[in-house]
Amino acid sequence: MSLLTGQTAVVTGGAQGLGLAIAERFIDEGARVVLGDVNLEATEAAAKRLGGDDVAIAVRCDVTKFDEVDGLVSAAVERFGGLDIMVNNAGITRDATLRRMTEEQFDQVIAVHLKGTWNGLKSAAAVMRENKRGTIVNMSSISGKVGLVGQTNYSAAKAGIVGMTKAAAKELAHLGVRVNAIQPGLIRSAMTEAMPQHIWDQKLAEVPMGRAGEPDEVAKVALFLASDLSSYITGTVVEVTGGRYV
Ligand SMILES: NC(=O)c1ccc[n+]([C@@H]2O[C@H](COP(=O)([O-])OP(=O)(O)OC[C@H]3O[C@@H](n4cnc5c(N)ncnc54)[C@H](O)[C@@H]3O)[C@@H](O)[C@H]2O)c1
Repeated sequence: MSLLTGQTAVVTGGAQGLGLAIAERFIDEGARVVLGDVNLEATEAAAKRLGGDDVAIAVRCDVTKFDEVDGLVSAAVERFGGLDIMVNNAGITRDATLRRMTEEQFDQVIAVHLKGTWNGLKSAAAVMRENKRGTIVNMSSISGKVGLVGQTNYSAAKAGIVGMTKAAAKELAHLGVRVNAIQPGLIRSAMTEAMPQHIWDQKLAEVPMGRAGEPDEVAKVALFLASDLSSYITGTVVEVTGGRYV
């Protein structure tokens, strides 16, 4: 038996990067996965690469809209018969200093990360509450722990996800539902590779392990938190940073 045999997971922002790596790990451990993402074409291609309809399906979903997230969760229940794992991972950055950041850039980042995670939590909890079991993994960031220059929007959203994770963990614990968060540091993905080289180098210099992380190194932690390996862990935040900002 693998760690997730017969289980169904929803991963938001699953078309690429960390979400896709998480989906891949989960499928390797016997799960079926529903990928939700705004980029339907990329999500369909990802689902195909992961093994197609029997193990992975793609759903267009904007996490800022509760109805769309609820539709994503319903798709998992209808297609695979339930929901055991919810990973709230979709994300964007709109970095700028306070002087230059627009109200729209602030609102967009709060909507995708903070509201998007709340939408996923609320919708998944409704199903898991009935089943008296489930695990939820929220993607925060080390930026939410320490606050990073140019990220007043993102740091606020990612710190908010920590508070939300702890509150939800307490609400749902007696129902058999665990909620935890991950704070990745510098992980190689489209999001970080879009960074100017000098910023990348600056961040890398802060990593005691001397290298960026790979998406699968976050996926392995998501697997731990999603599976029974972490059966007595809820409301916690796991840093995946190579030692940065400990
Ligand atoms: N890469 C890193 O170093 C790093 C570090 C800390 C935290 N994170 C977090 O990990 C998560 C994944 O990041 P990534 O590096 O894989 O980024 P990425 O840009 O490669 O992937 C993000 C995915 O989210 C999707 N998305 C964006 N807005 C959406 C919306 N409104 N609804 C649904 N999907 C949407 C995108 O289409 C994309 O497929 C994010 O929450 C990010 O903040 C990443």
